[in-house]
Amino acid sequence: LTALVVSSAFATFPVASSAEAVEDTPTWSREDASNFTLTDENTAPNIDSFTDVAPEYWVWDTWPLRDRDGSIAKINGYYVQFALTASKDYTWGGRHDHAVIRYFYSKNGKDWELGTIPYDEDKALGFRQWAGSAMIDEDDKIHLFYTASGRKDEGPTFEQRLAKTTFEMDYDNKEGFQVTNNGEHQILAEADGVYYETQAQKTGDIIYSFRDPWFFQHPETGEEYLIFEGNTGGTDKTLEADNIGNVDGPIPDGAEDYNGNVGIAKAENDDLTEFELMPPLLEADGVNQQLERPHVVQKGDDYYLFTISHQFTFAPGLDGPDGLYGFHANELFGDYEPMNGTGLVVANPENDPFQAYSWAVLPHGQVISFINEFHDENGDFQLGGSFAPTLKLKLKDDTSEIKGVMGEGEIHG
Ligand code: FRU
Repeated sequence: LTALVVSSAFATFPVASSAEAVEDTPTWSREDASNFTLTDENTAPNIDSFTDVAPEYWVWDTWPLRDRDGSIAKINGYYVQFALTASKDYTWGGRHDHAVIRYFYSKNGKDWELGTIPYDEDKALGFRQWAGSAMIDEDDKIHLFYTASGRKDEGPTFEQRLAKTTFEMDYDNKEGFQVTNNGEHQILAEADGVYYETQAQKTGDIIYSFRDPWFFQHPETGEEYLIFEGNTGGTDKTLEADNIGNVDGPIPDGAEDYNGNVGIAKAENDDLTEFELMPPLLEADGVNQQLERPHVVQKGDDYYLFTISHQFTFAPGLDGPDGLYGFHANELFGDYEPMNGTGLVVANPENDPFQAYSWAVLPHGQVISFINEFHDENGDFQLGGSFAPTLKLKLKDDTSEIKGVMGEGEIHG
């Protein structure tokens, strides 16, 4: 079946135009990614302890409810954040196989109360639901974009599709938070095998990606998009000069299996049920397998494309930290260049390189993430699984600087 899907996708995209488009895709090259240094500007302070936001659950990738224009939304005076969660009956590593989305709400943007799973788990697509984004439209309908990961009846397999469901949320003093009017669950996009690698085209040991849809409304044209994590499509994995840049020595074997990209799909209707895949915004062929949870923040003429990545997903011969990486251009479909020279925007402190992960840059330079693993004041190893302190990031032209720290999971509109 996968082979059929791939060949029909080839038929709908003329080879010449996709080859052209892919040639123009900005690259994060091996040269760009060969010189990471931790500095005061990019290194988060140590975490020594934390308050568990939901003691019964592991909590990781998190995203706030936003308005169509990307600003942080409120429902009857309450902020809402959605997060991947799994019961602590599962192991920390096993949580990915059992992820469901739950919501949290807060009046002051600091003290979070746990809500529920805002959809019917039996109707949700995928064996489990992975990361996404959430937008409330002008009719108060919430569009929850997520990754349908695997298939319901197959156990925790790794096919990934971009999906959506809708519902409404309300708060009143008597009933607390309520979710109503649950809509259908729909698949919005699947890997085409041309711009975006299918599971069957994957080579190498790390799972392929077609996940983490992030809603983005273009501030100038009003056009709407999903930005997502992909890998470069096709079976020819030969690296181009642009993927390498100016580096010494031969490229280690197997580097070509690492082909992460940042994908984009354009909405074809206002109800956001139909999307068309476009060529990727950025590719990291030969550099990194996973450009996770990508998202764009616009400030005047500056477009910042952020993505998170892991040390273990860098291609052989490259060594980069678990971190938030950023790319700068002057338009959405611009010629993205790595910020700060290498792309590194936020790293963990040297003595706790896996302290936090899954940073997301929100309006006003607020950067949320979750606590992963750290060492406490006594040097004891601790698992997190809760909201990390929010960082304040200053963006100027193509540079960034961590300016301060706020509360755990703290956000303001
Ligand atoms: C990032 C991530 C996402 C994915 C989720 C799965 O932390 O790998 O790309 O949606 O975690 O748990």
